[in-house]
Parts: sequence; C-alpha cells; structure tokens
Amino acid sequence: MIVVKDRTFEKFICYEDILERIAILAGNIDEDYKDRKPLFIAVLNGSFMFAADLLKEISLNCEISFIKVASYEEMESTGNVRQLIGLNENIFKRDVIIIEDIIDTGRTMLKILEEFKSLGANSIEVVTLFSKPGAVIIQEHLKYIGFELPEAFVLGYGLDYDGQGRNLKDLYKLKD
Ligand code: IMP
Repeated sequence: MIVVKDRTFEKFICYEDILERIAILAGNIDEDYKDRKPLFIAVLNGSFMFAADLLKEISLNCEISFIKVASYEEMESTGNVRQLIGLNENIFKRDVIIIEDIIDTGRTMLKILEEFKSLGANSIEVVTLFSKPGAVIIQEHLKYIGFELPEAFVLGYGLDYDGQGRNLKDLYKLKD
C-alpha cells in the first residue's frame, strides 16, 4: 500500500501484467495496419508511459506525435471547455491511432474525435490502456482496450492524483 497526498492506494495491476497486455495490443495493431503507415497521436500527460511501452512493441513503419487537451471553465457556463493543443501534423488522409491512458466518461475523447474527423483523416481508431464503464459512448472508435476497469479511481503508470503518482510503475487503486 502507498499513500499519495491524503489518500491510500493499493496495488491493482503490476507492471509485468501491463507489459504483457501491451505486447498483445501491439501485435493486433501490427496485424491490422500491415499495409499502412499509421500516425500515432498520444494524448499527454497521462499516456506518456503507455505510449513509450506500446511503440517499442510496434514493428510497423509509423510516426508518433503528441497532443494535449487543455480544460478550462468557461465563464457564464457550467460545462468544461476542452481545447486541443499541439497538433502540428497534417492528418488529412492519414490513418490515425490515438493513444490514451484511460477513458472515463469518454468526453475528452469525444472532443478529440470530433476535431480529428473535421480534419479529414482517412481512419481514426483509439487505443486506450484502461477504460471505465462510461467509455461505451465512444465504442465505435474504441478498437483496442488494454484493461476494462470498474468505476474506481486509479493511479500510477502515467496516471496522477492531483499531479502526483505518475512515476509509479504499477497501477494502484484508491482504497475505500
Ligand atoms: P474522461 O473525459 O472522463 O474520459 O476523462 C479522461 C481523463 O481523465 C483521462 O485522460 C485522465 O487524465 C483522467 N482520469 C480519468 N479517470 C482517472 C483515474 O482513475 N485516475 C487518474 N486520472 C483519471
């Protein structure tokens, strides 16, 4: 068990199991894209570890780039506005594979998909290491899932709790 800030977390999925699953995902992607040169786009910050381990297992000719989704409260509105930053590649007619760490409500990914569709990509798929039940709202594009998690807060392997814990090698779950 570990304590991060004011919360206690217990080990949930160990690094070895994560790597084993990533190798399978990479094998599936290699097979599905064997005649294409996909453009991977990783969503920072959370996906940095996953993107690194996944790409090491991919044998295709491919490219990788990184984006961020800035989230801010809009004045006079209740919802969060999500703005995509850092997309420098031309994705017109490209086969795009978005790399995400975790999909919870799916709202972040909906925003990304909406924007990418308007830029004329040839195809768009999502590979996420973890998904929670809410991810069903984007299931049409969610082709590759590492682990389906229950509704719980997790930490480590790139995922943070209030900025901390991204460096942890294993995945931890909030102890209730
Ligand atoms: P969504 O828009 O609700 O799908 O949220 C996606 C983002 O929320 C992810 O990219 C993470 O940064 C963050 N997130 C969702 N669930 C967790 C969690 O259990 N631990 C840490 N971050 C999370």
